[in-house]
Amino acid sequence: MASWEPDNPARPPAGVRLCALAEIADPGGKSFRFREGSRMFAGFVIREGEAARGFVDSCPHAGWPLAPLDDRYLTRDARHILCAGHGALFALDGHCIAGPCAGDRLHDWPVEVRAGEVWTA
Ligand code: FES
Repeated sequence: MASWEPDNPARPPAGVRLCALAEIADPGGKSFRFREGSRMFAGFVIREGEAARGFVDSCPHAGWPLAPLDDRYLTRDARHILCAGHGALFALDGHCIAGPCAGDRLHDWPVEVRAGEVWTA
């Protein structure tokens, strides 16, 4: 079963605090991992100013996490999300614009910012 599937028991429910917005570089990204028994849910949050957007950390190409070693989810110019696996490029809304999964998109992981804190939504 893939990490993005809605019935993944490791996927946190709405209302879970993830971090302070200030803990995410601006612009930048941060990974989050949750475990439930043998299952894991992997997500990441991209920050742009006071806004944050979450995605399941699973590339539509091969299902690998996009930035397995650190929180470097964005290209150097911060205009795109980059998959370290085979170099797919995604617009900041999650649509793949170049690479082996062009035309596909990342799965959304809804998050919201409240009073400077990032929460699952
Ligand atoms: S796993 Fe992301 S481009 Fe191949």
